[in-house]
Amino acid sequence: MKRTHYCIDVNESLAGQKVVLCGWVFRRRDHGGVIFVDLRDRGGVVQVVFSPEHAPEIHADAHQVRSEFVLRVVGDVALRSPETINPNMETGRVEVIARQLEVLAASKPLPFQLDEEVAENIRLAWRFLDLRRPPMQRAMQARHRAMQATRRFLDENGFLEVETPMLTRSTPEGARDFLVPSRINPGQFYALPQSPQLFKQLLMISGFDRYFQIVRCFRDEDLRADRQPEFTQIDLEMSFVETEDVMAITEGIVAAAFKAVLGVDLPFPAPRIPYAEAMDRFGRDAPDLRVQMELTELTEALRQTGFKVFADAVQRKGYGAERGMIKALRVPGGAALTRKQIDDYTAYVAIYGAKGLAWIKLNAPWQSEGWQSPIVKFFTPEEKEAIQTLTGAQTGDLIFFAADKAGVVNESLGRLRVKVGQDLGLMDPTPFAFAWVTDFPLLEWDPEAKRYNAVHHPFTSPRREDLALCMDNAAAEDGSIVDTVKAQAYDLVLNGTEIGGGSIRIHRSELQKRMLELLRIGPEEAEEKFGFLIKALEYGAPPHGGLALGLDRLMAIMLGMESIRDVIAFPKTQKGSCLLTQAPSPVDPGQLQELHLKLAALAKPKPEKSE
Ligand code: AMO
Ligand code: AMP
Repeated sequence: MKRTHYCIDVNESLAGQKVVLCGWVFRRRDHGGVIFVDLRDRGGVVQVVFSPEHAPEIHADAHQVRSEFVLRVVGDVALRSPETINPNMETGRVEVIARQLEVLAASKPLPFQLDEEVAENIRLAWRFLDLRRPPMQRAMQARHRAMQATRRFLDENGFLEVETPMLTRSTPEGARDFLVPSRINPGQFYALPQSPQLFKQLLMISGFDRYFQIVRCFRDEDLRADRQPEFTQIDLEMSFVETEDVMAITEGIVAAAFKAVLGVDLPFPAPRIPYAEAMDRFGRDAPDLRVQMELTELTEALRQTGFKVFADAVQRKGYGAERGMIKALRVPGGAALTRKQIDDYTAYVAIYGAKGLAWIKLNAPWQSEGWQSPIVKFFTPEEKEAIQTLTGAQTGDLIFFAADKAGVVNESLGRLRVKVGQDLGLMDPTPFAFAWVTDFPLLEWDPEAKRYNAVHHPFTSPRREDLALCMDNAAAEDGSIVDTVKAQAYDLVLNGTEIGGGSIRIHRSELQKRMLELLRIGPEEAEEKFGFLIKALEYGAPPHGGLALGLDRLMAIMLGMESIRDVIAFPKTQKGSCLLTQAPSPVDPGQLQELHLKLAALAKPKPEKSE
């Protein structure tokens, strides 16, 4: 007899009916003769009762059953008596009185109980068991639903799903490539794609007009909680569109996914914040809008300051992240922070390069100290007034200060803003705060190499109004256009994490050539790396643009998971290994020989213990 119901679907409406269930023994309790088994399948759990009086012939078998045995049970659905109803269980008002039992498989005792907290390295080594846990089952099902909702939405909006190669050439997304040696072409390598960027642009040139793919991407970079060496993008590209069109489609995808998984309607359109404003107010290009505090720049107000650290910052020359800056973070009610808390925050910003964290407490006038601070003695009354007016600080607040190059000031105060916001509960209660960050700088300046780098990638189009500046030859030599030339690029940010990014592309080959010139990518290097795209741009390329969402990040935030590893079936550790399969692993010499590879002498790698 086949399964008739998933456990979760056994409810009061089935009372008195026969059901056939298949699943695993989640918990088993022996109450002096009557055996209770919480039977679990992918949907959930229901209680099955084996009693000597109802089915004496299977009761002995039920005695043998242990955790994680696989059972097929035929039984009758019964309402529980009021005192035995379990309000913590979705199926807690019913139980199944077993009439037949078949043990389909036994199980060894588990290395850990599925309902206990276990170290992640153990979970990953036993992932096939870990995935049996109800939260993991829910995460995988949520991911599935989000993917199906995405496909449905994009299909309904005229997008074509096209697969692009996994064995390919390097794509310029800025990370290291994973390489695959070619057996048939000695000494040559494929690269696994960092994204389908070049192929999707070619598909536009081929006339497909609206493309998408839910696609694996590979990047050999340092891993963090929100980064995996292989991860999944919802990748799309559209022809004859502007930024707003790509944003609307992206919001449609995200809305469909949230609706399908959580049943919530998101308040799109999300706010659009130009990059410069995001940096100014929040210090980061991925601002967490749930945090209520903002940063205040004081470079001008403190231009004449007698405090040397601040004066040095004011004097500092440079463009973009290199220019000198003084900024403040006003913490409402922060005067109550202890010395220890301030020291901890000072240590925290040091991670992001801050050499110190000055502060002022605005104590009540009747308290002896008034403005209490290690640096207040350096400020004139006018400067104090300016600080208070610009930050809006009130009695009872604390103001933090950072002075350095803009890159360090923004990163450290931007991170501090979120940390303090979380610690002190200065957060809006909204669970999901989306924002589009727009008008990114097109270029960043590498002062050592004296050249520009693309902020997004080399195919991103500048804004129309900035084209002339891109043609300026003097600017090409000195880094001066990083603050002025903006890209038609946009990121989607959710709760302070970048969950997607894209741009309108360059579709004219002359402009593409000029961009490569600014990036000091010579014609030969360009030809070698992406000559095929440059050639294709000469054969009728439509204006086009697109974006890619990081599916893993989107799911992790949607489900409130700390790490994207919790929404990936078989993720890798921080060191890039799979503890289940033991990949990566050495290969036998014969295989190396076939691939025309020889290993250099290696230091023995340390075995990985825990994250
Ligand atoms: P980008 O490099 O911004 O753009 O990537 C798009 C999104 O992919 C996610 N992401 C990652 N997720 C997990 N682990 C990683 N290592 C990782 N790296 C990136 C992020 C990011 O926002 N081709 C362009 C898109 C375009 O221009 O259309 C691209 O790949 O959520
Ligand atoms: P000092 O004069 O070095 O003792 O520093 C006085 C105060 O300024 C201390 O609270 C330091 O943490 C702080 N401070 C030092 N360097 C910086 C900096 N670059 N930005 C902000 N505050 C700083």
